[in-house]
Amino acid sequence: MAKHQTPLLDQLESGPWPSFVSDLKQEAEARAKNERNIEYQIPQDVVEDLMGVLELSYKDGTTHWKHGGIVGVFGYGGGVIGRYCDQPEQFPGVAHFHTMRVNQPAGKFYTTKYLKELCDLWEFRGSGLTNMHGSTGDIIFLGTTTPQLEEIFYELTHKHNQDLGGSGSNLRTPSDCIGQARCEYACYDTQALCHYLTNEYQDELHRPAFPYKFKFKFDGCPNCCVASIARADLSFVGTWRDEIQIDQEAVKAYVAGEFPPNAGAHAGRDWGPFDIQKEVIDRCPTGCMRYEDGKLEINNRECTRCMHCINVMPRALKPGKDRGCSILAGAKAPILDGAQMGSLLVPFIKVEEPYDEIKEVIEAIWDWWMEEGKNRERLGELMKRQGFQKLLEVTNIKPVPQHVQEPRTNPYIFWKEEEVPGGFERDIKEFRKHHQR
Ligand code: HEM
Ligand code: HEM
Ligand code: SF4
Ligand code: SF4
Repeated sequence: MAKHQTPLLDQLESGPWPSFVSDLKQEAEARAKNERNIEYQIPQDVVEDLMGVLELSYKDGTTHWKHGGIVGVFGYGGGVIGRYCDQPEQFPGVAHFHTMRVNQPAGKFYTTKYLKELCDLWEFRGSGLTNMHGSTGDIIFLGTTTPQLEEIFYELTHKHNQDLGGSGSNLRTPSDCIGQARCEYACYDTQALCHYLTNEYQDELHRPAFPYKFKFKFDGCPNCCVASIARADLSFVGTWRDEIQIDQEAVKAYVAGEFPPNAGAHAGRDWGPFDIQKEVIDRCPTGCMRYEDGKLEINNRECTRCMHCINVMPRALKPGKDRGCSILAGAKAPILDGAQMGSLLVPFIKVEEPYDEIKEVIEAIWDWWMEEGKNRERLGELMKRQGFQKLLEVTNIKPVPQHVQEPRTNPYIFWKEEEVPGGFERDIKEFRKHHQR
């Protein structure tokens, strides 16, 4: 017999999608039975009370978590999101329901051994509920009490060799696409760079020292599977600067219908036989491709590396061999002054250990933003307030046409005094000598 009636939640057990309600019930039941005789460190019925409070929220249409919550572990300024129920008497099992962020491995590849060990820890000291994974990338442990935080942290670090993720005004947990592990488009080792920079900037991740939050994300190519351009203050997007590699025989095989376009991604519907002219040549955003007499040609100087042709014919076309990444800056969600996607800052940079050039860009930006950023001002907002030119100056990057989608249309142009012959100091009397009042 469940502790609370949940008629509204129960409706979410039907339908084909995996039901989080059914899963919650399963975990509640497992904790009630406790077949492994676990000495639960937080209330055994935490999951039932979570369902109870959620049902109440479904009923009255409002949240039942109190405002905020400041908890954590010594040495760190973040990593744990404190949370308390506003009906602690009715739902004592979730009176404390803190979330712990656990730094996931790059690419989110796991062994069952590692996951089982984490689960054992979390069954014992937490609710047994998780989020795999948070949007930023972390493994999320959902729900424990304050006294358990240091215990969990001790076990994570001493037994599992595993650290917390970030929260607060700091570098948050970096994340990446699976990259070279399982993708032929990857133009650099996203996992290696993500892992390296996560380690390199542990101090910035664990102890908030910034005006506001800051995120890194790493995509191996412009397909952006980790959506770095929209979800990271600094996004690293793989690209190449020589020629797309063409296998003419494989192109012919696509034309002959031997290979399915887009690796069969549209197989669920009849789109007719593959038409290279319609589906590739005419779709190229710059019109830099040609297919004549059974031969595909690309004018690579005009190619913007949009990935379309490669995505359609992955067995015939490959990114070039001279690879690296672009760095874009400033993406953020709407609050305060409107949503932003990353703006191109470094068109091309080689990605080579020990990544010194990349670190120079990062640290120059941090030096600027940490001094000039207002309280709770994202990098993107500082760029708007002080100007893109300022960002170029502090990173020592020369302005190039690639920095803009289009030149400005308004004429409110600032000049530096040294750029103007004679400077800004003028004497009105001198002017009056030539122009009477
Ligand atoms: C067809 C009519 C007009 C044309 C083609 C014209 C054109 C111009 C041009 C080329 C400039 C120089 C802009 C610059 O500094 O780069 C200028 C400046 C100026 N014009 Fe006109 N103008 C016209 C009418 C007027 C009228 C009717 C007024 C006043 C009632 C006026 C007031 C001014 C003033 C005050 C400036 C100086 C702006 C400054 O100091 O930056 N203009 N105009
Ligand atoms: C007693 C007469 C006038 C007064 C007191 C006056 C006052 C002003 C003021 C205070 C501004 C704003 C300046 C700024 O924000 O920097 C302005 C802007 C402007 N005024 Fe007048 N104005 C007068 C007559 C005129 C006339 C006759 C014209 C046109 C023939 C004119 C055209 C403009 C324009 C085009 C601007 C915008 C300039 C800009 O974009 O920066 N004004 N005026
Ligand atoms: S972003 Fe590009 S390299 Fe990374 S997984 Fe997606 S397609 Fe592959
Ligand atoms: S990558 Fe895009 S721009 Fe370049 S040739 Fe292919 S379709 Fe055209």
